[in-house]
Amino acid sequence: MGPWVDSNSLVCLLLLATVSVFSSAYGCDLFTGKWVLDPSYPLYSASACPFIQKEFSCQKNGRQDLVYTQYRWQPLDCSLTRFNGLKFLEKFRGKSIMFVGDSLSLNQWQSLTCMLHSAVPDAPYNVTRVNDVTTFQFLDYDLKVMLDRRVYLVDVVMEKIGRVLKLDSIQSGKLWKGIDMLIFNTWHWWNRRGPTQPWDFIEYQGVIRKDMDRIQAFEIALNTWAGWVDANVDPEKSLVFFQGISPSHYNGTLWGEPKAKSCVGQKQPLLGTVYPGGLPPAVDVVKRVISKMEKPVKLLDVTLLSLLRKDGHPSIYGLGGSTGLDCSHWCLAGVPDTWNELLYNLIL
Ligand SMILES: *[C@@H]1O[C@H](CO)[C@@H](O)[C@H](O)[C@H]1NC(C)=O
Ligand SMILES: *[C@@H]1O[C@H](CO)[C@@H](O)[C@H](O)[C@H]1NC(C)=O
Repeated sequence: MGPWVDSNSLVCLLLLATVSVFSSAYGCDLFTGKWVLDPSYPLYSASACPFIQKEFSCQKNGRQDLVYTQYRWQPLDCSLTRFNGLKFLEKFRGKSIMFVGDSLSLNQWQSLTCMLHSAVPDAPYNVTRVNDVTTFQFLDYDLKVMLDRRVYLVDVVMEKIGRVLKLDSIQSGKLWKGIDMLIFNTWHWWNRRGPTQPWDFIEYQGVIRKDMDRIQAFEIALNTWAGWVDANVDPEKSLVFFQGISPSHYNGTLWGEPKAKSCVGQKQPLLGTVYPGGLPPAVDVVKRVISKMEKPVKLLDVTLLSLLRKDGHPSIYGLGGSTGLDCSHWCLAGVPDTWNELLYNLIL
């Protein structure tokens, strides 16, 4: 067919190569993609991580299907670099990492400590707790991986009238100063009502209310948090992430299976790139608040990829067994390992 065809295809190939290198290095959206079966996963075996709490220990609690541990997240335009625990430990030698938030932070914190421990199974570690802060130390690396349980990020204060959720007060921020990498999260407790709601009043701009629109309260509190970050974080020293909204699965209509009343019995992810039920409204709030911040904060935008994982929850293999049906947290090994693998790809 002569030289024209060949040189044209060559130019084409070169262009394609340039485009794909360019997009993976700069433009690749790590959070748009799909789940693919990969027998080289999970990154660690649950039995090799002795300190997983009961609520995430699905296999110990009797879950027998294990295919859910073998999915790898595949972004559409590039591939993730596989998590390397030794590299991570070296990078953070002498440093401190802190997760701040609710039990989804606990979930991701446990996942990361398992991922690191399984890279150095014989290395000494210890776990200590002071008030709300739990510290997992890798002693040979002088690395602290901490968890500050702070379900609203903003303060809940005991006063004469009762427990007050203060949307514009964030005193616990003093615990977060100087930490080398912070990963924040809050959302699930903003919809709590009834006996497990851990406050009696809401205070904002000096006005005390019995209640208010919860999404609005969430946005005000997030802006308080954003103000704290803008005023207190030195971007030369500290990396700041927001963990993103971790979704629950209690309504099968949202994933195209109207008969399913929860995640019980789900053994497979949705295999496409789309979640029929769309994103929870809290995602927009998080994105709006972060977009207005002065300091660089990266969103670990895990909502869509986790929405696709209706199979990843403890369901009846969590803390309370069949009576404690849990379609909010995630089994370990499992989905939060991918959140940490994404985090790893963003800080490499
Ligand atoms: C944990 O490690 C720290 C730092 O080396 C040490 O001070 C502390 O005593 C250790 N705690 C336990 C319970 O081993
Ligand atoms: C499940 O979601 C559908 C679609 O949004 C909604 O119409 C339905 O009321 C929901 N069911 C429950 C039990 O919340």
